Amino acid sequence: MAEYTLKVRRYQPESGEGAYWEEFKVDLDPSLSVLDGILQVKDRDDGSLSVRCSCRAAICGSCGMKINGQSGLGCKTQIGEAQEKADKVASVGDGDNTIVVEPMGNMPVIKDLITDMESTHWTKIRRVTPWLLPHGDPPEREYVVEPESMIDITQSMACIQCGACVSSCLSMEADPDFIGPAALAKAYRFVGDPRDAETKERLHDLAEDPHGIYDCTHCFSCIDACPKGVAPMDQIMRLRRKAGEEDIVDPNNGHNHVHAFVNMIEKKGTNDEALLVQESYAPGIKGKLKPSKAAIKGLVESLPTVLRAIKTGKARSPSKVIPGIHPKLPGGAQEDVKAIYAHAEEHREEFNIYIKGEDEVEPEPDEPTDAILADEAKAAADSKGES
Ligand code: FES
Repeated sequence: MAEYTLKVRRYQPESGEGAYWEEFKVDLDPSLSVLDGILQVKDRDDGSLSVRCSCRAAICGSCGMKINGQSGLGCKTQIGEAQEKADKVASVGDGDNTIVVEPMGNMPVIKDLITDMESTHWTKIRRVTPWLLPHGDPPEREYVVEPESMIDITQSMACIQCGACVSSCLSMEADPDFIGPAALAKAYRFVGDPRDAETKERLHDLAEDPHGIYDCTHCFSCIDACPKGVAPMDQIMRLRRKAGEEDIVDPNNGHNHVHAFVNMIEKKGTNDEALLVQESYAPGIKGKLKPSKAAIKGLVESLPTVLRAIKTGKARSPSKVIPGIHPKLPGGAQEDVKAIYAHAEEHREEFNIYIKGEDEVEPEPDEPTDAILADEAKAAADSKGES
C-alpha cells in the first residue's frame, strides 16, 4: 500500500460555479488503477465525484480521461506508474508531484470527469455510415469471407469507442469539424471489408470533405492515446492510400501534397519545406511553366500561411523560404533516409500488431557463431595443453 494524491479537475454544473481543482489522498497498491483511486475517493471522501465506468478491465471504453495530461483509460493506467510520471514531470518543472486527473479534451464536460460523448464522438461515428453496405440480394446463409481478407481490418475492429484518440487529437482542437481519428478508423473498418460494395463512394465522401482524411496533420497523438493499439492515424493513412489509388481530387490538395512529399523524400532524403508548397500545387518544371488555375489559386491562398510562418519565426532563415537551398543534413543522413525509403518501397511493410505481434523475437542462429567457434577452439586447445 502507498499513499497517493489525486488532483482532480471538478465541475459541478448545479452549483453555478466554474471548474476548479480539488486534491484527495488515496491508499492503494501501486498495481491498482487510477480509476480505483477515484472510486476510493467516491467511497470515502466525496460521493458526488462523478466518473463514468463499468467493466474496470479496459473493455467497455467508459472511463476515458486525461491522466497527467495524457488521454487514456482510468482503469488501464496503474496508479504507481502514474505517480512515476508525475514525479518525472515535477523533477524537471516547478509543479508538485500530484497525479493530475481531468476530463477528456475536445468534448463538452457534463460533470467532473464525465464528458458529452454524443455531441462529438458519436455524431462523428454516425457521419461515416458505420455499417456494411453490400449490394444485391443477401446470401441464403451468412456472407463467407476469406480470413486473409479480414486481417487488414482487425486493427480497426479492436476499437472500444472510448474517445481517448478524439480527446488527444490536435487537428480537432484547431478544427472541431474534423471527422476525427475514431470515426475515420471506423470508416476504414468498412472501406477495407470485402463485403462492402460502396468503397468508392465512401472514399470520395471522406476525401472530398474538407474536414475529412486530409485534415489529419500526423501528430501521432491518437496513436499514443489509444489503449487498444488501433493506431487511428494509420487507418487514416490507409484511407488516403486507397483514395489516392482512385485518383480522387480533394479540396485540400491533400493527395498532391502527399505525392510531392514522397517524391522529395525519395530524391533528396529530406524535406525542403519551401519547395514542398510549390511542388504540391505545381509539380515539376511543367507545373511551374504552365500552372493550372487551381495551382495559382492554391499558391496564392498559401501566402498568408507562409507570411505567418515568417512572422512567428518558424521560417526565419532564407533556406526555409527560398525553394531549393535547404541545408544538407549532417553526415550521410540524407543517404540513410533514401535507403530507408528504398527499403520501405521494396518491402511495402506495415506495422500492425494485430498481424505481426508485439515484437519479433530474434531467431536462434542455425550455425554456431564465430564467437562460439572461437570459444570452442580455445577450450579444445586448453584441454590438449592439460593432458
Ligand atoms: Fe471499462 Fe475502463 S471501465 S474501459
